[in-house]
Amino acid sequence: MKRRLKNILVTGGAGFIGTNFIHYLFKNKFFEGIIVNIDKITYAGNLENLRDVEQRFGGERYFFEKADINDFDKIKAIFDGYEIDTVVHFAAESHVDRSLHGPKEFLHTNVMGTFNLLEVARKCWTGEEKKKKLFHHISTDEVYGSTKEMKYFLESTAYQPNSPYSASKACSDHLARVFYKTYGLPVTISNCSNNYGPYQFPEKLVPLMILNILDEKILPVYGDGKNVRDWLYVEDHCSAIWKILNQGKIGETYNIGGENEWENIRLVHFLCEKIGQLNGKDKDYYNKLITFVKDRPGHDRRYAINCDKIKQELGWKQEVDVEEGLEMTVKWYMNNPEWVDRVKSGEYKNWIKKNYKMR
Ligand code: NAD
Ligand code: TYD
Repeated sequence: MKRRLKNILVTGGAGFIGTNFIHYLFKNKFFEGIIVNIDKITYAGNLENLRDVEQRFGGERYFFEKADINDFDKIKAIFDGYEIDTVVHFAAESHVDRSLHGPKEFLHTNVMGTFNLLEVARKCWTGEEKKKKLFHHISTDEVYGSTKEMKYFLESTAYQPNSPYSASKACSDHLARVFYKTYGLPVTISNCSNNYGPYQFPEKLVPLMILNILDEKILPVYGDGKNVRDWLYVEDHCSAIWKILNQGKIGETYNIGGENEWENIRLVHFLCEKIGQLNGKDKDYYNKLITFVKDRPGHDRRYAINCDKIKQELGWKQEVDVEEGLEMTVKWYMNNPEWVDRVKSGEYKNWIKKNYKMR
């Protein structure tokens, strides 16, 4: 039975990847359905990201509902009201450093919130019709913990999370799997490596460094800067999710990655050099801002993903070369000074209040 993929509930659509996913669907002719975006609008949610979508499709093919994924009654009413047939679950507390200082919110949203959404789907999707539905749970490669050189995370790799963030995501993955195994809920899961691209909140490495370079502020590199991350351009993540929505096998997990392993220090040097070129500065001009600071507790040394399964079984591949993707990202932040200023000053919260009537 073919999946409907018509009335899609996106959770956390005002965040970084959710925003890019909504743009991706509306940009591509293959998607003809509607999107209902539910978001609690935490510090990480910014509706300005979706201003153009709201203008072009608002009230017809795009609907925003301010809601906490923990609110069973509200989410159930949204499910019933919009006849939701597909869930793409992004909503989460997503920043490792914040999870070190305040883990509780991570458990509340990532674990209990995911549980609540799964419960709503279980109650709403019943009978034969269930086969046309899909609950896609978005997760991270951080659930696998840190890996040694020449070793790669497979979908079968045992979970070994090392931060409150990754532990909460690991728990949510297990819950999604359990709802498939125990209740037959049509679930797929993906575990993706570090994303970068437009609209990322400047607390994560790439946007933080770009904005600090532009402001000539210090560039805080944790530890010796030799921790390795695998980098994927956010639009490539979106195309992988779309593949899974269409062709992913129920009950399966898919790893998604860029196959671009870079030490953090290499990435920071690259951004310094690129912005130097664009600003007509000397090649090494911005390097002087690099400052090695105290390491993050429990800092995972290396993430490296094997994403052969999604490539071989679903025919997905990355399109964006990492250096080109980083350059596009740098230019996006340089070309959107108003967005940047509002985010840096906190003014984006007022912007949302002024421009949106929250339901
Ligand atoms: P983000 O922090 O930019 O956005 C999260 C969004 O969720 C925000 O809009 C926020 O307002 C919303 N939200 C938070 N709590 C909520 C709640 N209780 N109810 C409703 N909405 C809530 O995160 P992101 O970087 O876009 O990540 C999205 C998903 O992708 C997360 O599940 C994350 O674990 C996963 N992921 C992220 C990366 C990455 O590199 N950013 C990599 C792999 C997987
Ligand atoms: P981050 O973007 O927080 O993603 P994650 O921890 O989920 O991988 O960090 C990416 C890497 O960059 C990680 O090894 C920590 C490091 N890092 C710094 O060195 N300095 C910083 O200011 C930040 C935010 C991260």
